[in-house]
Amino acid sequence: MHIFTDIQAAPPDPIYNLTTACNADPNPQKLNLGVGVYKDAAGHIPVLDTVKTAEQRILTDEDTKNYLPIDGTPDFGEAVRSLLLGVDHSLSTAPDSITLHTPGGTGALRLACELVAKNRSDTTVWLSDPTWTNHAQIAQQADLAVRTYPYLDAGTHSLLREKMFAAWATVPAGDVVLVHGCCHNPTGLDLEPDDWQRLAGLSRERGFQVLVDLAYQGFGRGLDLDAAGVRVLADAGLPTLIASSYSKNFGLYNERTGALTAFGFGPASNAMLSQLKVHARSLWSSPPAHGARIVSSILADRELRAAWTVELAAMRDRINEMRSLLAESMHHHGADRDFSFITRQYGLFSLTGIDAEANARMRADQSIYFMSTGRINVAGLTAATIEYFCQAYVATLN
Ligand code: LMR
Repeated sequence: MHIFTDIQAAPPDPIYNLTTACNADPNPQKLNLGVGVYKDAAGHIPVLDTVKTAEQRILTDEDTKNYLPIDGTPDFGEAVRSLLLGVDHSLSTAPDSITLHTPGGTGALRLACELVAKNRSDTTVWLSDPTWTNHAQIAQQADLAVRTYPYLDAGTHSLLREKMFAAWATVPAGDVVLVHGCCHNPTGLDLEPDDWQRLAGLSRERGFQVLVDLAYQGFGRGLDLDAAGVRVLADAGLPTLIASSYSKNFGLYNERTGALTAFGFGPASNAMLSQLKVHARSLWSSPPAHGARIVSSILADRELRAAWTVELAAMRDRINEMRSLLAESMHHHGADRDFSFITRQYGLFSLTGIDAEANARMRADQSIYFMSTGRINVAGLTAATIEYFCQAYVATLN
């Protein structure tokens, strides 16, 4: 008898588990379209050249492995705000703008949820339907309730815009509405600047809190356009929480580099920062240094920053190229429906509409791994594997 005698096994993570299963598959043609990572035209998850350069400099210059401050270093905070707001935005240096360096975007989301939960335990977090599978779990682990708002019309692969606004118009004061900043995971359907304006208006009117998850800045329409929503909220003076991740746009997945930023909270920001530090201290004590050092070194150096934006644009272009190629190739192979909607989505993901049964068959027969919801990581495809994927899909239907 021990304290875990009656413990129940938890289900495996639906995203990471696909990688585990794919790694164990001996089929040389296997294809992992599960986890959201950028792969290059050779199907490799690359280290960016600018990251390598920054790392070499860090290796030369680093003279200590001392702990970072609980909230990270000021230069990382500045780098994060320059990406969120654009260089030289007045809010970047406003006394109530705060940024905490967190282990990944997940750490930032969890920190935000902890702050909300400890401040007001009966808060509900409203999530888009559908959303990233980890969102509900993060909120629930912080003892927050979750509800959903309509987002995707699966039949037409479009945004349920008016239904989404109608749901937001019912959100009680004090609740949290979590919105994807860009490259919505899993649908690839994003809000437009007008939508963000309406969101700001509703948030003010109803008194709910907006929490933005910005994990793919630069992968959709560009660095600035992907932050347009965040900037609308900031310019409207709306008190806003933003969880941002540098896993994707700097390719720093295993360095766990993210941030929680708060704008517009006025005098409360000092107390918020102090409470956030208590949560961070009890969750991970102080943040991991390496990834944040890479990000700040690249962004603080004019040449490296410019070279990084070129690398980022190349990743974005390749994703969009794969989108077009996939839609064309599906058509070419005589797929049962039009997949051109894939070209109208942004970021790594597409909800293809491929159902769970076809998904299971493609996995069993062709070793193609993607989420049973039909979500694929478009950036996991190459010109060569698109053929394989489309043939597998058509064969499965027949
Ligand atoms: C994904 O949705 O695949 C990515 O955000 C990676 C992750 O941590 O789940």
